[in-house]
Amino acid sequence: MRNFNEHNITEAVLARLDASRSSRVKEISGALVRHLHAFVREVRPTQDEWQQAIAFLTRTGQVCSDTRQEFILLSDALGVSMLVDAINHEFPGGATETTVLGPFYVADAPEVSAGATIGKQEDGPTMLIEGRVLDTAGSPISGAIVDIWHADADGYYDVQKSPTAYSGRGRVKTDAQGNFWLWGTLPAAYPIPDDGPVGEMLGLQGRHPYRPAHVHFMIAAEGCETLVTHLFLASSDYLDSDVVFGVKDSLIEPVIEVSPGKTPYGAVVETSVPAMRREFILAPRTRPRE
Ligand code: BEZ
Ligand code: FE
Repeated sequence: MRNFNEHNITEAVLARLDASRSSRVKEISGALVRHLHAFVREVRPTQDEWQQAIAFLTRTGQVCSDTRQEFILLSDALGVSMLVDAINHEFPGGATETTVLGPFYVADAPEVSAGATIGKQEDGPTMLIEGRVLDTAGSPISGAIVDIWHADADGYYDVQKSPTAYSGRGRVKTDAQGNFWLWGTLPAAYPIPDDGPVGEMLGLQGRHPYRPAHVHFMIAAEGCETLVTHLFLASSDYLDSDVVFGVKDSLIEPVIEVSPGKTPYGAVVETSVPAMRREFILAPRTRPRE
């Protein structure tokens, strides 16, 4: 077939997908072609705008490195990451809600014991991070791995300051009662990296680049879906305008002041300190671990 025009090209491209290697490849490729073509028909870009779009995607790839993933940031800032998260995490029975992983997760964060200090003194004021991990029946989960990471009081993650000197992150196991506690830092709200194409896009769209202050959690336990979530500080700015659309009411917690003594989660507190505490509920695993 030849002589393609605005009216027949979409069907022609779709017809070329008939020999796709699997029905899933055909389904995904077909949807991509249909939606891309519909987008172009709606926007009717000039040749110059089309060149600008190609240049934008080229720059997005060019700034990616081992420590920077501009395409994930683009997906985050366009709400695509939260949409994928929502589609994949319709957990039943009161399980804790999920939110975006973000680009500052590190797979080999230091393993630490309960009561460890994960924030350096120069990172800012100390904050106790404590809680319990339970299943949907309300039974405590012992031996769950609680991976915690957060920005410092200036809004920077350790990996943004030095790729190897970890601070503000650690992996702690829950005890026999499902409890965990660590000494971290009171984190600040921060802008996502906005000195690249995604920052340019936000500027053109008249948007700010900020995320409200939060602490990240990834919690894994045998027989349960791994939970990827945050706790947002209730006092933070930007709760209603998170640049990556990650805030859910159920994930907002106040920073409380804990008095000296032993807390319900086993933390030993010597002088009054700010704290975030939370009971996390893991959904039962319904699919094999990836
Ligand atoms: C984060 O919370 O670490 C994050 C999430 C999405 C984009 C940038 C940062
Ligand atoms: Fe973050």
